[in-house]
Amino acid sequence: MNNGCKKYIPFQQITLPDRTWPQKTITAPPVWCSVDLRDGNQALIDPMNLEEKLDFFKLLVDVGFKEIEIGFPSASETEYEICRALIERDLIPEDVTIQVLVQAREHLIRKTFDAIHGAKNVIVHFYNSTSTLQRKVVFKKEMDGIVDIAVEAAKLIRELTEKEIAETGMNIRYEYSPESFSGTEMENAVLICDKVLDALGATPENKVILNLPDTVEMCTPNTFADQIEYCIRNIKGRKNAIISVHPHNDRGTGVAATELSLLAGAERVEGTLFGNGERTGNVDIVTLAMNMYSQGVDPQLDFSNIHHVRDVYERCTSMKVPPRQPYAGDLVFTAFSGSHQDAIKKGVDYMKTHESPFWEVPYLPIDPADVGREYEPIIRINSQSGKGGAAFVMQQAFGFQLPKAMHPEFGTVVKAACDEAGRELMPQEVYNLFSKEYLEVNFPYNLKAYKLYEENEDEEAENAEGGTAVHFEGNLRFRHEDHKVSAVGNGPIDAFFRALEQVNIKDYTFVAYQEHAISRGADSKAVSYIHLKDPQGKDAFGVGIDSNISMASIKGIICAINRAAK
Ligand code: KIV
Ligand code: ZN
Repeated sequence: MNNGCKKYIPFQQITLPDRTWPQKTITAPPVWCSVDLRDGNQALIDPMNLEEKLDFFKLLVDVGFKEIEIGFPSASETEYEICRALIERDLIPEDVTIQVLVQAREHLIRKTFDAIHGAKNVIVHFYNSTSTLQRKVVFKKEMDGIVDIAVEAAKLIRELTEKEIAETGMNIRYEYSPESFSGTEMENAVLICDKVLDALGATPENKVILNLPDTVEMCTPNTFADQIEYCIRNIKGRKNAIISVHPHNDRGTGVAATELSLLAGAERVEGTLFGNGERTGNVDIVTLAMNMYSQGVDPQLDFSNIHHVRDVYERCTSMKVPPRQPYAGDLVFTAFSGSHQDAIKKGVDYMKTHESPFWEVPYLPIDPADVGREYEPIIRINSQSGKGGAAFVMQQAFGFQLPKAMHPEFGTVVKAACDEAGRELMPQEVYNLFSKEYLEVNFPYNLKAYKLYEENEDEEAENAEGGTAVHFEGNLRFRHEDHKVSAVGNGPIDAFFRALEQVNIKDYTFVAYQEHAISRGADSKAVSYIHLKDPQGKDAFGVGIDSNISMASIKGIICAINRAAK
């Protein structure tokens, strides 16, 4: 980029060598304030209409927000009407405080008071920009002039509030934001905050919210934490204030900056669901809350149905939650890597066998079920996947534990299908190949009817080897002709092999078999893998599934013989 970076002025950190925040941890949630309906809304290509805002408001209430910035009622007629609709339609629960934003300008403040008339609990949030850069290039004013604007606004807001309280008994609180706080000299930020606290008559009983915005994220998150700790230490009226932060995400570290500012003493956080907001967005409250949750801290917000939260958000804002969005994205509880899948499975098994009360699963920071989701292993097979790849899919996705000796044969079938398709195969496609190759093989031999039973116990019949004799009777169709076969053996497989001799199927050698239970749908069945040598000495594999374990083996034998005949 041809040294273009030299035109940027590096951020000047403040000096705070005795900072205390790095030693702290987050042990309790902050007061959350959603600014979705204001900061989030103002950053939409098509701002929400009345019905959308009301739906979103209901979602925020359901999630558990107690402070909700509903808009900028003095900015437009639509915003004004939305505020009135919430109040007049009585849509604001008793324990929820609505917040309205207004610039520190007289006519806008007066209009804002008209808009909130009759609401039970309101925070009047006023702001003016204090940043070094904006003072230089936008306002062309010294800091004194900026302080005057804030103080004049504070006095007017106090006067209108006292009048409104006297007349209506409304509960009105104050919030002041030195906008672009993180781009302001800290002495100036402290100065203006103290002046505003005084002008508003803040007391420990009637605290004012001092909202310190990271309006544009300017440096690594530790610098913001230093700024917050500096202000908390130096604002004289600190005990009369609730320290709030309002981080944006320009450097992609809004969540980190917020978390560090909480360590530094911030008590309240303003942000949005999924981080919607100006430019790169406001801080994402879902991520903040779920990060706390994953550390054993109850965030006091309910994201147990994240799909619903996401659906309402996407419908009302026309924004999309990206697939890798923490906790909510489509792919965040998905494992692509085989070794990750293996470790996850082992973690889940460990929790079961040890009855662990804790979440101890590698690669999944939280239990997906806590946000109403499921872990999803994605197993993809391509022509490079190797002989065991297809067997791995059969095991992970469908529970079939193919014997090692079968892996190369089935691997070759899958590889040929990949080559033919010229792409990766999804697990269901691998299963379909398995089914076609092993489970749907009924020609030239087809076992139409069969019966297996042991010798009557009273007769205590024993065969030559001393085991209980087993009878097999069946109707075996060869090509298009049915043959009745029956034989006795020292076990079901032996009896069946002897019966097969009656239709001239001989010289197959039994090499090995393996079986296990498998749950397909509601019922549990047995699957049997049969390994034979055909009369020419070649390997022949077959698979049988049945609710009876002996019949599963017999089906597996017929399958192997049919495949060898093919
Ligand atoms: O980002 C910001 O500084 C704001 C203020 C109005 C609080 O949105
Ligand atoms: Zn903002």
